[in-house]
Amino acid sequence: MDVTIFGSGYVGLVTGACLAEVGNRVLCIDVDPRKIDLLNSGGVPIYEPGLEEMIKQNRDAGRLSFSTDAAEGVRHGLFQFIAVGTPPDEDGSADLQYVLAVARSIGSHMDGYRIIVNKSTVPVGTADQVAAAVSEALRARDAEVEFDVVSNPEFLKEGAAIEDFMRPDRIIVGTDNPRTGELLRALYAPFNRSHDRLMLMDVRSAELTKYAANAMLATKISFMNELSNIAEAVGADIEKVRIGIGSDPRIGYQFIYPGCGYGGSCFPKDVRALERTARGLGYKPQLLQAVEEVNFRQKDLIFNKIKTYFNDDLAGRTIAIWGLAFKPNTDDMREASSRVLIESLWAAGATVRAYDPVAMHETQRIYGERPDLVLVDDAHSALEGADALAVLTEWSEFRSPDFHAIQSRLKDRVVFDGRNILDGRLATASGLTYISIGRAPMRPST
Ligand code: UDX
Repeated sequence: MDVTIFGSGYVGLVTGACLAEVGNRVLCIDVDPRKIDLLNSGGVPIYEPGLEEMIKQNRDAGRLSFSTDAAEGVRHGLFQFIAVGTPPDEDGSADLQYVLAVARSIGSHMDGYRIIVNKSTVPVGTADQVAAAVSEALRARDAEVEFDVVSNPEFLKEGAAIEDFMRPDRIIVGTDNPRTGELLRALYAPFNRSHDRLMLMDVRSAELTKYAANAMLATKISFMNELSNIAEAVGADIEKVRIGIGSDPRIGYQFIYPGCGYGGSCFPKDVRALERTARGLGYKPQLLQAVEEVNFRQKDLIFNKIKTYFNDDLAGRTIAIWGLAFKPNTDDMREASSRVLIESLWAAGATVRAYDPVAMHETQRIYGERPDLVLVDDAHSALEGADALAVLTEWSEFRSPDFHAIQSRLKDRVVFDGRNILDGRLATASGLTYISIGRAPMRPST
């Protein structure tokens, strides 16, 4: 089938590459000529495991191409995916200007029936706005062409996006036209394993499903983070509590890991946007507000622990940080907890020596050259001359470090574990003080 994807960012490229992989002819459009040039010359503007190879293979096979020409894009595909950004407005609502610009462009060039598929995360009611923008553009050129607007939210996790697309838990399709639903069922048929995973529903329910999923997951994390602070106050160990409650299948073990807060491009933005939607309709979303507030507070936690440990005196100290990305297997630093810690440490007069397996360039891009930020090439170099170590991202390579090497390099022999991934007994056996989330600090046992 012929598919056009507007927006060659994270969601657009993964969707385009995966749809081409199963045999469709996919044309990806972007307004940024540099991005399209890069893609046409074999580069990929984002880091996502497996994506570069998949793009290359499908481009070489002639199934995947890139262009800045929107008119060509509208001519190409029966399916017109909208996968452009919806950045938050100043008040936290999703900014729809890019989505609606694509809708107008489709309306201006469309010469036959098209299925317009909303992949971008958009507030409930956006499909109606997209339909109105397309109709208006058609009217402006006196054209009468049929089209449908479908909501098909993505549920991709960064770092596992290809796997999530190729082997989805569910494919949500919101449409009021059963015939369109069947065409999408055919497009997505290659991604079903063992049984049909496509769920057809009305447009608004599909739009809300995306927000509901992310808000639920964010709620689980904030709930555990709140509980971890209570655990610490009452002298309990949150990791024991986590295992205890996770054994109940109604609760489950997934997404109940306490830590220094959630980040990324989805959870913070979507929780805020859903909150705005509810408020705009006169409903006060108390739980969503609390989820966000708890997360906000949690991002300060490691800084507060470091500050307390050093008796409020951080001026002139150096803190090593392992992990800058908001989670492992990505270089994405949007709303990362590391940024809150780094900026708080600077404000307190400290220097940061940081290492991340892939997010070094991104850190450099965000902060530029500055004397109080030293970016190093490996985890151990980060420890040189540092007073303490803070672990902020749960990368596998940090899980089993050489504690003796850490102990011998740090001036103050203290490790702050923002993700509870280190073995406190091994750390303390090597002479380190181990401070983590939701548990009492552990002192050196040697
Ligand atoms: C998320 C959703 O998982 C995905 O389905 C949706 O499409 C987009 O948003 P992503 O933003 O890639 O995906 O990240 P995810 O793996 O869900 O992690 C989000 C954040 O929560 C990370 O900062 C992570 O460290 C944190 N987290 C996750 C916890 O603090 N505790 C947990 O138990 C799980």
